[in-house]
Amino acid sequence: MTSNTKILLKTKCEGLPKESDFEKIEEEIIEPKEGQIGCESLYLSLDPYLRGKINGRHISGAIFPGDLMAGEAISRVTTSADPAFKKGDLIISHSGWQSHPVININDASKIIDHGIPISTYLGILGMPGLTAYAGLLRLAEPEENDVVLVSAASGAVGSMVGQIAKIKNCHVVGIAGSDEKCSWVTDTTSIDECINYKKENITEKIKEYCPKGIDIYFDNVGAEILQVAMEQLAMNSRVVLCGLMAQYNSDSMPAGPNPAWIIKARAIVKGMVVYDHEDMRENFVDDVSKWIKEERIHYLEDITEGLANAPLAFSKLMRGFNTGKTIIKIND
Ligand SMILES: NC(=O)c1ccc[n+]([C@@H]2O[C@H](COP(=O)([O-])OP(=O)(O)OC[C@H]3O[C@@H](n4cnc5c(N)ncnc54)[C@H](OP(=O)(O)O)[C@@H]3O)[C@@H](O)[C@H]2O)c1
Repeated sequence: MTSNTKILLKTKCEGLPKESDFEKIEEEIIEPKEGQIGCESLYLSLDPYLRGKINGRHISGAIFPGDLMAGEAISRVTTSADPAFKKGDLIISHSGWQSHPVININDASKIIDHGIPISTYLGILGMPGLTAYAGLLRLAEPEENDVVLVSAASGAVGSMVGQIAKIKNCHVVGIAGSDEKCSWVTDTTSIDECINYKKENITEKIKEYCPKGIDIYFDNVGAEILQVAMEQLAMNSRVVLCGLMAQYNSDSMPAGPNPAWIIKARAIVKGMVVYDHEDMRENFVDDVSKWIKEERIHYLEDITEGLANAPLAFSKLMRGFNTGKTIIKIND
C-alpha cells in the first residue's frame, strides 16, 4: 500500500536553504473523517514567501523545525466523507509538502476547468497571478502610455505584471538575471525591453529605456534595484512594493532607498499583500484565462518531478536558478 510521503523542515535554514535543511518521512495514509476529504497531491507550488515563514518573518505565520513544510497544492479527491466533494474532483488547498493529505472541506476550493493546464492554478491563474493583477491594476492604476518597470520580470509575478501592463497599453521594461531570461521576456512576451542586472549598468539602462522617468515601478526584489529605480521616478509615479527576493535569505535588513526620491517625484508608494485582494479573484481568472487563450499572455513553468526533489527545487528558487513558476509534479 502507498504511504503518505511528507517533507518536514529539519533545521532553520541559515542563509540560502539547502537540501539538508529538510527531511523526508513516510506515514500511513489516514482515512478522512466527516467533513474531510482524502486526496492525492498532483502539483505543489514552491514560493519565495516560504523562506520568510522559515525565518519567522511572514505575515501568514512561521514554520518551525519538525513541522510539515507549508505550500499550496492541487490534489485529486480519492475518498470523500462529505457530499459536496466526490472522488476525482480536483481541488486546491494549502496542504503542504505531502503526497496524500487529508483536508478539511472548508480549506479546499474546487478547481473550475477553464481549458487551461491545471498547474497554472498555482502560477498565473493562482496566487502569483492575482498578486500581479491586483498589484498592478488596483494599486498602481496604470494609464495608457505609462512607463512601467518591473523586476524579476521572467518570474511568475513579474512576467504577469509586465504583460498585463502591455495589455493596458503601457511601455514596459523588465529587469531579470540572465540573457536567457531577458530573451524570453522580450522575444516571447509582449514586454518591450529587458535589463540583465547582473551584466548591465541598471542606472544607465533605465535612463536609456525610460528617458522621461518611470511612472510605475513594481518591485519584487528590494535592495539595490529598488534604490536605483526610485532615483528615476517620474512626477506622480506609483511604486508597488511586492517582494524582497534580495533579502529573504539574510538575517539583517538592508538600508532602504532615500525618501528624498519619493518626495521629489510626489510618488505614491504602496505595499502589496495578495490576501487583501481576494474580491478580485473572479474577474482575475476570467480576464487572465481569456488573455491566455488569445495568446496575449505567455508563461514559463519550472517543473521538477517528484516530491522528494522539492528541497532541491526550493534551494534553486531561492538562488534565482528557477526560470518561471516553480512547481513540483507529484502525480499525474
Ligand atoms: N506581496 C505579495 O502578496 C506577494 C505575493 C506573491 C509573490 N510575492 C513576491 O513576488 C516576488 C516574485 O515571486 P515569484 O513567485 O514570481 O518568484 P519568481 O520571480 O518566479 O522567482 C524569484 C526570482 O527572483 C529573482 N531573484 C532571486 N534572488 C534575487 C536577488 N538577490 N536579487 C534580485 N532578484 C533575485 C530571480 O530572478 P532573476 O534571475 O531575474 O534575478 C528568481 O528567479 C517575490 O519577492 C515574492 O515574495 C509577493
